Amino acid sequence: MRIHLSTYLLIYLFTCLLVYLFTCLPISLYTCPMFITLEGPEGSGKTSHIPHLVAYLRKQGFTVFPTREPGGTIISEQIRDILHDLKNAEMHPRTETLLYQAARAQIVEQVIQPRLAVGEIVISDRYYDSTIAYQGYGHQQNLDEVRALVKYATGGLTPDLTILLDLEVEVGLQRKTQNALEWNRMDALTVDFHKRVRAGYLEMVKQEPKRWAVIDSNQKWENVQSELKRVIIARLKK
Ligand code: TMP
Repeated sequence: MRIHLSTYLLIYLFTCLLVYLFTCLPISLYTCPMFITLEGPEGSGKTSHIPHLVAYLRKQGFTVFPTREPGGTIISEQIRDILHDLKNAEMHPRTETLLYQAARAQIVEQVIQPRLAVGEIVISDRYYDSTIAYQGYGHQQNLDEVRALVKYATGGLTPDLTILLDLEVEVGLQRKTQNALEWNRMDALTVDFHKRVRAGYLEMVKQEPKRWAVIDSNQKWENVQSELKRVIIARLKK
C-alpha cells in the first residue's frame, strides 16, 4: 500500500502537537514564575528564615530556587569574599559599588533569569535594593548614578515582591555579635552608616509601596515566619 506524502506530513504535525501538549504547555499553564527578594539591615534574620520558607513552599507544590547576594555563582561567591574580607578596609565606595554589580550581573544571567524562564519561584537573600540602601544611602553616593549602575547590572530585572525585615539597627548588630554570626567588612562600618541604610530602606518602601511588604523582625521568630508565609502566599494567589 502506498502512503501519500500528505499523510506523512499529517503524522508529523500530530506528533509535534502531542510533544507540545505534554511538555511546553504544562510549563506555561501550571507554573507561575515569581521573583521574591528579602531585604533588611544587619541581623534582621533573613538568612535564617529562607530555608524554612523554601521547604514550606515546596510542600505546597511550588518549584522554588533559593539564592543569595552577593554570591550564588562560583564567580559571584569569589567577588563576595573580596567584598567582605575585613582586610579590605580601604576599599573605596565606588569600587565596592562596582564589585556588587559585577557579582549581580553574573547571578542574574547565570541563575535568576534562566530559573524564571522555566517558571520557577526564585527567592533571593538580598538583591539590588541592598545596593541602593548600602552603597547609595549608606555611603551617601549619588542615588541616580547608583540606580543607573544597578540597571546596567540587572538588565532591568525587578523583583515581583520585596520583603523588608525591619529592625532597629542596634538590636540587629547586637543579635549578630550575640549569636556569633558572620562579622564582615560591611558589619564593621559605623552605626551611623547602618542607620542611614535602614532609613534608606524605609524611604524605598514609601516610593514603591506596591512592590514592598514590611515585616517587623523584632518579634518572635515563629511570628515573623508566619507573616512571611502569609505575605508570599497572598502574592502568589494574585
Ligand atoms: P549578608 O549575606 O550577611 O546579608 O551580607 C551581605 C552584606 O553585603 C550585608 O552587609 C549587605 C551588603 N551588601 C551591600 O552592601 N550591597 C549589596 O548590593 C548587597 C547585595 C549586599
